[in-house]
Amino acid sequence: VAALVAYLAATFLVCGIPFGKIIARAKGVDIQHVGSGNIGTTNVAREIGKGAAALTLLFDAGKGALATGLAGVVFPLCVTGGVSVDPQSPAAALVGLVMLAAVCGHIFSPFLGFHGGKGIAVGVGSLLGFAWPVGLIELGIFFVIAYATKRVSAGSVTVAAIVGLVLALFYGPNLGQDLIVEAAGLVVVWAHRSNIKKLVSGQEKPFSFHKKGER
Ligand code: G3P
Repeated sequence: VAALVAYLAATFLVCGIPFGKIIARAKGVDIQHVGSGNIGTTNVAREIGKGAAALTLLFDAGKGALATGLAGVVFPLCVTGGVSVDPQSPAAALVGLVMLAAVCGHIFSPFLGFHGGKGIAVGVGSLLGFAWPVGLIELGIFFVIAYATKRVSAGSVTVAAIVGLVLALFYGPNLGQDLIVEAAGLVVVWAHRSNIKKLVSGQEKPFSFHKKGER
């Protein structure tokens, strides 16, 4: 139990590293004071450009994948190679806790006074790290919705809201893991509350890359 608590604490800390903020700062921009004010890939793309956004995505998704992927090595988990070996085992819920810690670390970043990002990249990354087929399905749904609506946030909110359900449908129900993963998804939905308000009122702007001369 002590090892698990230590692992969850380490996950929270590592996933709290605000890569978007760091990458933007290297470009001379305080990402929390431009655009949506978010530290994620979408805002970095909007305010800085493609290269910085790709790096932010890589590091944010990577820290999530590292957390759950490494958990499978450190602890004897029940998901190997993306296939649930024994989905009914309580140990499978453990990796859900790691995903929850990863998402919370990013959203409530201890390095930003517990005000961080919105958690979608780290969430999908951590999903890919322990159940990659479900991560790919979620990515597919994300792209369809984001492309159809031209709003990244619409894709993010949709996949976050249904993540526990998709996991349960793919592997068969494992209530402990499904509920914890769904809880992680709902934290991501909550982090998007300002986007949801704007989507509902029609004020959410379509996605765009930064163009020189803007701002
Ligand atoms: O996941 C982040 C994205 O869905 C919204 O980002 O910057 O438009 O609030 P942003």
